[in-house]
Amino acid sequence: MKSRREFVLGALAAPAVLTSSSAKRGYSWAEIERIIARGDVRGKLSRDDLPTPALLLDMDSFEANVAKMAGYLRERKRSFRPHAKTHKCPEIARRLVRAGAAGVCAAKLSEAEVFAHDGVGGLLVTTAVIGRHKIERAVRLASRRPDTMFCVDNAQNVRDLNDAAGAAKVRLNLAVDLWVGGRTGIVPGEPAVALAAVVGSLPHLKFAGLQAYAGHASHTVGFDNRTKVSHEAMGQAVETARLLVGKGIACPLVTGGSTGTYNIDSEIDGVTELQPGSFIFMDLDYNRIGGADGPVYRDFRNSLTVLTTVVSKPNDSLAVVDGGLKAFSTDKPYMPEAKGIQGIVYSWGGDEHGRLNIASASTAVNVGDRIEFIIPHCDPSVNLYDRIWCLRGDQVEAVWPISARGMSQ
Ligand SMILES: Cc1ncc(COP(=O)(O)O)c(C=O)c1O
Repeated sequence: MKSRREFVLGALAAPAVLTSSSAKRGYSWAEIERIIARGDVRGKLSRDDLPTPALLLDMDSFEANVAKMAGYLRERKRSFRPHAKTHKCPEIARRLVRAGAAGVCAAKLSEAEVFAHDGVGGLLVTTAVIGRHKIERAVRLASRRPDTMFCVDNAQNVRDLNDAAGAAKVRLNLAVDLWVGGRTGIVPGEPAVALAAVVGSLPHLKFAGLQAYAGHASHTVGFDNRTKVSHEAMGQAVETARLLVGKGIACPLVTGGSTGTYNIDSEIDGVTELQPGSFIFMDLDYNRIGGADGPVYRDFRNSLTVLTTVVSKPNDSLAVVDGGLKAFSTDKPYMPEAKGIQGIVYSWGGDEHGRLNIASASTAVNVGDRIEFIIPHCDPSVNLYDRIWCLRGDQVEAVWPISARGMSQ
């Protein structure tokens, strides 16, 4: 049996412990901490310096995704208000606005509050604001950012919003949310027109237009099927807008769509604005829906990964990484996919760990190796991290706070 001293020396001699680039450059962890605290990371840190699990953004792919979506919608003369529930990051919102976005959508009020606080305008809160306290907050948000829009699908809620806006002497912009088979909303057609008329009749409200989000269409597998499902959904929104105009109610906005349907909905006459979110990152869930050009959806690049470290190798065919359910939140049945190494099969190893079957891995995998994974579902995974490391190649270019992380109220 080995003595304790032999055991410790043996462990220290393990090559992976000595191979990180920070060790080569001589950075201690205390120096890395100081660099991170100053926020002056550019040119100083590399991928190997980052503590894992870490959320990484490949800047070349991210910028290509933003430019592609913005250019596509600009050419088709559609407004672009990407959904910020995907990234929850004010710096990303500002970059999208610089690329031509009219603003960003926020799923919840608390998310919108963070963006407003960080100087992002043109907010559309896509979930109805219900209850006295939320309404108080919505009115406060609107007094800071008068161009904010809120979604409604209920007449009593509309009256409550009007009363609160009147008391605070602000005007609220309300979009009527349509039930187009996705998640929330009022029945399109006459019921929606009647609700828009209520909005228009109240003194402290302004009718902004219609929202129609068809979540079931966005992930329909196969481009032709998806086109059919999305046409059915968005057709109801366009028809409702036509009815409104027929009744003398101007409807300047019909907003909806997603990463999966951007090139379908932007061809529909009457859809004025697209609100895709995931295209900036792309996840495995979206890759599998199929594109207009084949069975894998490749319109946008996978820019988002989670970097992990191999922390254990119980035998030749099993390695364990330090990223489990707390590193890749997902509601999807498929597993994270290793980037740059073929033949690795990931399975959940609990909250903190992932099990890798490495029997057929294209390269050797050892304790201390760093392995990057493309994630199954981007939105809930991003919500697990405080910051996103932005990489140009292997070099860290920036670190962005995910300031609206956890803002689900
Ligand atoms: C209201 C609304 N609009 C747009 C989106 C963006 O969808 P995606 O991330 O699929 O592009 C979502 C996503 O859930 C949403 O809830």
